[in-house]
Amino acid sequence: MNKADLAVLNCNQLVTCRGPIPRRRTDLQDIGLLKNGCIASYHGEIVFVGDEEAYHREVELADNGICIDSRGQIGLPGFVDPHTHLPFAGSREEEFNLRVQGYTYQELAEQGLGIQTTVNATRQASEEELLALCLSRLDSMLVHGTTTVEAKSGYGLNKKDELKQLRVLKKANATHPMDIVSTFMGAHEVPKEYKSRKSEYMDLLIRDILPEVKKESLAEFFDVFCEEGVYSVEETKELIRGAKDAGFKIKIHADEFASLGGAQLAAEEGAISAEHLIAITEEGIEKIAQSPTSAILLPGVSFFLMQQKKAPARRLIEQGAVVSLATDFNPGSSMTESMLFILQLAVFTLNMGIEEAINAVTANASYALEKHEQVGSLEIGKKMDLVLWDVPTYPYLVYHLGVNPVKHVIKNGKIVVEDGRILQTSVGPH
Ligand code: NIG
Ligand code: FE
Repeated sequence: MNKADLAVLNCNQLVTCRGPIPRRRTDLQDIGLLKNGCIASYHGEIVFVGDEEAYHREVELADNGICIDSRGQIGLPGFVDPHTHLPFAGSREEEFNLRVQGYTYQELAEQGLGIQTTVNATRQASEEELLALCLSRLDSMLVHGTTTVEAKSGYGLNKKDELKQLRVLKKANATHPMDIVSTFMGAHEVPKEYKSRKSEYMDLLIRDILPEVKKESLAEFFDVFCEEGVYSVEETKELIRGAKDAGFKIKIHADEFASLGGAQLAAEEGAISAEHLIAITEEGIEKIAQSPTSAILLPGVSFFLMQQKKAPARRLIEQGAVVSLATDFNPGSSMTESMLFILQLAVFTLNMGIEEAINAVTANASYALEKHEQVGSLEIGKKMDLVLWDVPTYPYLVYHLGVNPVKHVIKNGKIVVEDGRILQTSVGPH
């Protein structure tokens, strides 16, 4: 008998996403569906997944254990959001309104709006203010079914404020139930003070800020915006060389607007992921498809920037790339915390199948953070990160738009959202 302290019985459909990770090509269509599925955990770890008969045979629920009857609902692994710019201050609805009136994102950035607006606001915010903002956004993510999130700095663009963003993430990770994976992205832009001295800023990043980030264990990944007018392929190479030497794993914002070849670079350099890829070339698709590097697609960005051009998800999947999906949550190009919305956009705008999109927000998204041993599927030995949705079948998640059908969220074996509401007790160490 397996001892359990939490059991969830009789989900209409339990979408386990079990099986080898990462998933490529047609394997992306297998979501490991169990009808009338049951799942149990002990001290936050999954100890059983199967049908009711096997549950009664194999599981012994502790006297004070919790048993949830989830008849009429479906269960999925908690979403993993592998690309966000969570620690920012301020908002950009005025700039957004100018875009609605016809200005492009790049035109506004040239006028000093864009990322720079958020850099100013984030520099002005105190650590406490930034922490409060992050905690409330993490609550919102949890309420929308995300249980693991990657979060980047990159709105400080100087030592003090980049470290401030990363320290806030470390505190948030220690006090909020969400698992946060931190990324140092001091190379998100060239700060205005260094516009004519980019190489000096690159030196500062590598020689001064990176060692401090490492010393305080503030980030696991290093990310750089490889883009026309930001960091060229050569500059990106130089930055990632420094970051690798310092022991960081690499992510690259690649081929978002211009086809610079960031995807090829990511594959050649053994980056864990290349992200955006709206302007990826055929050569880039081939290179990334033949590599272990994840292609993280961010359909919220094309949608939010009202661009016709989209990441070629179908080509990437056909060629065998490891495709995952993320919100890119940020105030300028994708102001959403909801991975369900992203899943829906992937189906509606990238031609992904519902099953493919589900694997891309769970199993493959966990791989894009190298957390696939712990999260991303419902399997024995993994964390009990389970979301129960108030819908009868999994296609319903994409079919019914504009609502949040999250019923309960279980993080690490604890109920943190009940009947769609965050529990006060959820704020505490996980
Ligand atoms: O991922 N591409 C660069 N950075 C963000 C946007 C940042 C902003 O506009 O504040 C992105 O889309
Ligand atoms: Fe981004």
